[in-house]
Amino acid sequence: MSIPTFKLSDGTAIPALAWGNGTGDAKKTAFESGQYAVKAGIRHIDTAQGYENEKETGQSLEQAVKDNGISPDIVFVTTKISTEKGDPNKPGIALEDLRQSVLDSISRLGRQPNLLLVHNPFVPPKGKLLEFWKILEDMKDKGELTASLGVSNFRPQDFDELLPQCKYKPVANQLEYHPYVLTHLQPVLDIMAKHDIRVESYGPLSPLLRHPTGGPIKPVLERIAQRLSKETGEEVDAAMALLLWTRSKGVVAVTASGNNGRIAKLALTQQLPELTKDEVEEIEALGRKVHFRAYDEHMCIDFPAPNLPKDL
Ligand SMILES: NC(=O)c1ccc[n+]([C@@H]2O[C@H](COP(=O)([O-])OP(=O)(O)OC[C@H]3O[C@@H](n4cnc5c(N)ncnc54)[C@H](OP(=O)(O)O)[C@@H]3O)[C@@H](O)[C@H]2O)c1
Repeated sequence: MSIPTFKLSDGTAIPALAWGNGTGDAKKTAFESGQYAVKAGIRHIDTAQGYENEKETGQSLEQAVKDNGISPDIVFVTTKISTEKGDPNKPGIALEDLRQSVLDSISRLGRQPNLLLVHNPFVPPKGKLLEFWKILEDMKDKGELTASLGVSNFRPQDFDELLPQCKYKPVANQLEYHPYVLTHLQPVLDIMAKHDIRVESYGPLSPLLRHPTGGPIKPVLERIAQRLSKETGEEVDAAMALLLWTRSKGVVAVTASGNNGRIAKLALTQQLPELTKDEVEEIEALGRKVHFRAYDEHMCIDFPAPNLPKDL
């Protein structure tokens, strides 16, 4: 079974859909649901130190590989160096502790991750982002770490601090990304486009799941889901259509579920066709007029939200 992938700037292929175990039921059932995700055909697992389930992630992958007779290399694993519990207001990691912290993650996972992210700009000590990053670069140069290096929740000022002097540019920035944060994110997206930094979207389903009404894109997604259901013979819903929009934007969708039926639907999106150019543009144009964010804690510090309505 082939699945859609994107190229990272260091040449690595990254599966366009990831199953994350940092939220909801997926976090609690990381071991069982992780196995099901692999069985269903998902080839990218997203975890973090802060989710406190790297060990279960590793064990679940080991089991899934055994049960499904597949090679461990075909499952792409992302982990993140986190503040305590992934909460940006909790303590981060001191420079002298970083190397061991990464080695501990590798040991809990039982393998090298394919992608290692700095979970948020508050993980390194204040003003020490470059020094922090250089430790990761050094680990790569020594072969202690083979993962691609990336970041998460980085704002323009964080890239300004990092990019001019780093040796390995981050290959990805994982942030809350969907149509209702596009206007807010534009300055950071511009920097990322200039430096070939791939967008990874967490909370990709927020417009449908967390926005009080679904907002102006909901009826469009329902219409697209109907069209795709008719054309493919599959039961396509609005959430699947939104994940296809994310993929059409060249963005890795990091979603989650602790429910096997829904995990199977997430996996099925990998086999569905792209949206049309007009559909992609229609959703984007409507989304840009609204500002709604589900995760306020990360990106909004010193990066003010635009003055837009939450709904239309
Ligand atoms: N880097 C960061 O700071 C950061 C922050 C937040 C999240 N993340 C990562 O991103 C992952 C996903 O985040 P998220 O939970 O916000 O993603 P999301 O895709 O917006 O929402 C996932 C939720 O959608 C539900 N769902 C899945 N398929 C559905 C469908 N077809 N219809 C209706 N509901 C559906 C799931 O609930 P059920 O379990 O009930 O199916 C799940 O709780 C996390 O687990 C984590 O790995 C990273």
